[in-house]
Amino acid sequence: MPLTRKAYRAAILHSIADPAEVGIETSYEYFEDGLLVVDDGKISAVGHASELLPTLPADIEINHYQDALITPGFIDTHIHLPQTGMVGSYGEQLLDWLNTYTFPCESQFGDKAHADEVADIFIKELLRNGTTTALVFGSVHPQSVNSFFEAAEKLDLRMIAGKVMMDRNAPDYLVDTAESSYVDSKALIERWHGKGRLHYAVTPRFAPTSTPEQLTLAGQLLTEYPDLYMQTHISENLKEIEWVKELFPERKGYLDVYDHYQLLGERSVFAHGVHLCDDECARLAETGSAISFCPTSNLFLGSGLFNLPMAEKHKLNVGLGTDVGGGTSFSLLQTLNEAYKVMQLQGARLSPFKSLYLATLGGARALRLEDRIGNLRPGSDADFLVLDYNATPLLSYRLKQSKNIAETLFVLMTLGDDRTVAQTYAAGALVHQR
Ligand code: GUN
Ligand code: ZN
Repeated sequence: MPLTRKAYRAAILHSIADPAEVGIETSYEYFEDGLLVVDDGKISAVGHASELLPTLPADIEINHYQDALITPGFIDTHIHLPQTGMVGSYGEQLLDWLNTYTFPCESQFGDKAHADEVADIFIKELLRNGTTTALVFGSVHPQSVNSFFEAAEKLDLRMIAGKVMMDRNAPDYLVDTAESSYVDSKALIERWHGKGRLHYAVTPRFAPTSTPEQLTLAGQLLTEYPDLYMQTHISENLKEIEWVKELFPERKGYLDVYDHYQLLGERSVFAHGVHLCDDECARLAETGSAISFCPTSNLFLGSGLFNLPMAEKHKLNVGLGTDVGGGTSFSLLQTLNEAYKVMQLQGARLSPFKSLYLATLGGARALRLEDRIGNLRPGSDADFLVLDYNATPLLSYRLKQSKNIAETLFVLMTLGDDRTVAQTYAAGALVHQR
């Protein structure tokens, strides 16, 4: 007998495949009157309430949510914890934005009290927005990652993070050295990687801020420990790309820099990729690397329009990223709202089911965690959300006109935000209640 068993009754929707691979209709499961059964923090059954209820003991505790939709927790494949305090900073594109706003803001994270305070705000904000797993950039200071993991561990969250490695082209107050970044990253890996539901990501900020020596050591860390992640930025902004060509003239292009230092692989996630070429997409796909699509950031920083159809053509793993503080919202619903517009501007469509996939199972696949998170299949971690159809007066009225779950889902993604997330559960525990 499980120690704790609970059931949740509401409409239930989850992705089971990429619509680009199997077609929209077979990419999801929807139970209009559904039941989700959770045993000891894991999902043990999902299906129609009418079929599952007779199989359960009469005295089982059931939470029944009216006018609500249960979905898997959202997965944010790219976000910066130390940029929480500078979201929505005015007027600059990437390189000037880094110098003007980002680096000064990140400089405060050597201080434990500050790092603890922001980690707490950051995690609460993730959970308020329904994000149960995120791939997180810390600052250059190990303290930023310690504070984050300490807070995530208390709630038994599945989270991935790493200390930024950055030994050039940044202010003196914010650089490490190749050697210190290696030693500090190693200590964090030993302390956190594989502890509970936590994982470590080797985190060179981007090619311009690392020397060849540092990139070599980043690659070495990946060979020293199994299942480590790697996260960085790529081809976000045209001036950035020109700069990389100047700094690494001997390499074929931006991706080739990372390839040369052996940073591509199945647990490597590259943020943005707005200006990748066809050959680079092919190489990312060949190595099993993933892209984090960050639409609010790409619009806000004027970086450009991500070509999702090209990524699909190459069967590239793509997840969704908020990229806070370049991105302007912690909400993956709002991020999907912007993703839809990015596709519209390119004459393409983003179906609501592809959007759901990107925010859940697609993110899980990008992180190679699809056996644990990203959908509600039995055996998965019980990380799920209750979305409230009556979160705002407009949402409530608009959804009353909805003819089917596709329309409901699209409206949730267009009008929804943190207010839509009524409850967030992680490993079966209630971690946010609106
Ligand atoms: N490239 C290098 N660092 C950053 C960062 O902090 N944010 C974004 N959006 N791009 C980057
Ligand atoms: Zn970023």
